[in-house]
Amino acid sequence: MNVLNVLVLELLILVVANHASRVSKSLNETCLEDGIVVGPGLLKDAYKDRCPDAEDIIFSGVENAVINDPRMAASLLRLHFHDCFGCDASVLLDDTNNFVGEKTAAPNLNSLRGFDVIDSIKSELESACPGVVSCADILAVAARDSVLMSNGPGWEVQTGRRDSLSASKAAANNNIPGPNSTAQTLVNAFQNVGLSLSDLVALSGAHTLGRARCSSFNSRLQNSKGDINLDFLQSLQQLCSVTSTNSNSNILADLDLVTPATFDNQYYVNLLSGEGLLPSDQALIGGGNDQTAEIVRSYVEDEGAFFQDFIRAMLKMGSIGVLTGNDGEIRRNCRVVN
Ligand code: HEM
Ligand SMILES: *[C@@H]1O[C@H](CO)[C@@H](O)[C@H](O)[C@H]1NC(C)=O
Ligand SMILES: *[C@@H]1O[C@H](CO)[C@@H](O)[C@H](O)[C@H]1NC(C)=O
Repeated sequence: MNVLNVLVLELLILVVANHASRVSKSLNETCLEDGIVVGPGLLKDAYKDRCPDAEDIIFSGVENAVINDPRMAASLLRLHFHDCFGCDASVLLDDTNNFVGEKTAAPNLNSLRGFDVIDSIKSELESACPGVVSCADILAVAARDSVLMSNGPGWEVQTGRRDSLSASKAAANNNIPGPNSTAQTLVNAFQNVGLSLSDLVALSGAHTLGRARCSSFNSRLQNSKGDINLDFLQSLQQLCSVTSTNSNSNILADLDLVTPATFDNQYYVNLLSGEGLLPSDQALIGGGNDQTAEIVRSYVEDEGAFFQDFIRAMLKMGSIGVLTGNDGEIRRNCRVVN
């Protein structure tokens, strides 16, 4: 590691610490004091005694992966979201004789990435402190680190999740909304798991990173709603024309056409000019919901407000349906139940 890397790392740690103290105050004054219980049984630093290097090991794993493949930051952030209508690492389980896992559910098939990165981080953690760090926590910490690696804000991740003993393809299909969803469908899907309309708008800002397949946004190409920028439309039509009939095609477009690998508020700026990629992105402003549109505009004006709300919403999302206490287990291999 050269001097520059060390400096960057120290800066990141400062940023995390600084953000974390501000978030703690706003989230819940009473129960975040002094690192005691925060979410439903989650802790500020669950591995302090039993695996003090856990977060460093995860950060290095994410850093290496992102250096090799810059898109991996986006993919790891998304993996945590897709785990988190119940953050229990169920998304990582391969199919068995007893259940069909989530990897083949519609929102995930030929789309989720990063499983091998999580495997390699997990194997390092098993060498350092066997049987201690859950796969669900690796996903939560890696999501934070991915945002940091993309010049986004940092925060203190709550840990102490345990891993599920099963997975449900049906639940993944039912809970994760698709890209053709209307604003109201998105609001409902998030409210079903306790996330508010403002959480929805803030979390959608994750689409400032990463890519989507033509099959995810092909309904934008017909311009039936008249809400797409015409130059943008033309470039997408050209990109996708070769393969518009093949839904498994891996021709990809950036979710944020301006700064595709930087975590910033450009995603919201794009929505103002009709350059949201997914129908579900553009629906936040053109979908007839004044409340979501209002929040989009506020994030265009104030990137700091977006960051603050994003952090709060990530902490909230990260505590959905978590397993704690004696529930679940700490998997040795993230792909299979012990
Ligand atoms: C609001 C509802 C959401 C919908 C309908 C949605 C839908 C999608 C779709 C269709 C893709 C492209 C998949 C593909 O074509 O392979 C995608 C990519 C992505 N999503 Fe979402 N998403 C939503 C919310 C979120 C949230 C809450 C996060 C994280 C906090 C997130 C993070 C990402 C990221 C980072 C990518 C790019 C992944 C990559 O390049 O590997 N999304 N999303
Ligand atoms: C904050 O924590 C207290 C004590 O655990 C709890 O009763 C209260 O509902 C929490 N408030 C919020 C906004 O989460
Ligand atoms: C969205 O709708 C279009 C038709 O307008 C369809 O071709 C496409 O498969 C749908 N995408 C998803 C992911 O459901």
